[in-house]
Amino acid sequence: MKKVSYSEFGGPDVLHLIDAEKPQPGPGQIRIAVRAAGVNPADWRVREGQVLKAHPLQLPAGVGQDAAGVVDEIGEGVEDVRIGDHVFGRGSSTYAEFAVLRAWARMPEGLTFEEAAGYPSVVETALRVIRMVGVRPGQTLLVSGASGGVGSAVLQIARDRGITVIGTAGAANQDYLRHLGALPTTYDDGWADRVRQLGPIDAALDLAGAGVIPELVELTGDPRKVVTIADLGAPTLGVRFADTTGDVPAALAEAVDLITRGKLHIPIEKTYTLAEAASAHIDSQAGHTRGRRVIVV
Ligand SMILES: NC(=O)c1ccc[n+]([C@@H]2O[C@H](COP(=O)([O-])OP(=O)(O)OC[C@H]3O[C@@H](n4cnc5c(N)ncnc54)[C@H](OP(=O)(O)O)[C@@H]3O)[C@@H](O)[C@H]2O)c1
Repeated sequence: MKKVSYSEFGGPDVLHLIDAEKPQPGPGQIRIAVRAAGVNPADWRVREGQVLKAHPLQLPAGVGQDAAGVVDEIGEGVEDVRIGDHVFGRGSSTYAEFAVLRAWARMPEGLTFEEAAGYPSVVETALRVIRMVGVRPGQTLLVSGASGGVGSAVLQIARDRGITVIGTAGAANQDYLRHLGALPTTYDDGWADRVRQLGPIDAALDLAGAGVIPELVELTGDPRKVVTIADLGAPTLGVRFADTTGDVPAALAEAVDLITRGKLHIPIEKTYTLAEAASAHIDSQAGHTRGRRVIVV
């Protein structure tokens, strides 16, 4: 099979499309014929060697953690899927023709493989940070970096729960945030004053790592009401960094429910082939993805 792989940490040019053996699913795992793989910032952070302390990795390594496809082989003890089922979920080395998943759910009716591949990590992260920050129905949540993959999921889940969201994004994404039910403003000069004029803030999420933790603490009045997924310096200001992946099967089940009820849709910014994985990483690293970029196999 074809698979994207790298033998040294570095820039996008370390990625190569190689021939490899099909991976074998272990107990509690499944193998899928990958139809699409989601591109997450974690993929290029790992490729650069940024997260080696937390996640030691042996080279050569594959790329990708999210995918959607057709069940092709079933590991010992797995009873909830059959060969041929269409599933989406999380695993490893998903930029490939075949990949092993550790967590999955059946794809909701009407969802394409391309769309489905964009959901697993962003929905798990969105559910985790909303829970961590403790925002309740009727309250107002400020989201810095609201138009990306995680932001798109946070805004829609919050709306479904009756939480008002004020979101920051680039000028080109103001209408997009409005369409997702949020009160938008841009993140350029004076943004904190503009947010203040939109109303009092009960809790805040930093999803972009844009260096705004002091302002988020000031706007909420309490570092315990702020959570970041992208600013490693935040804990020095008393703000929690959400870094431990939560319950992925539960998150996938919740994603299916939200999608089926028409409450959640993550748009695809652009699709790429396996051979274009380096371009997908360059575009993701540019930092202005709306929704998710997806590799189509
Ligand atoms: N700790 C964890 O568990 C965890 C989990 C998932 C993701 N992450 C991290 O969280 C970050 C977001 O992930 P993602 O998948 O949502 O990324 P993404 O889809 O690439 O989105 C990035 C977003 O950042 C926005 N942005 C760029 N500059 C900004 C600024 N100065 N102020 C506010 N927003 C700005 C962009 O908005 P515009 O296009 O509108 O400019 C873009 O929509 C990444 O750094 C990722 O590595 C961490």
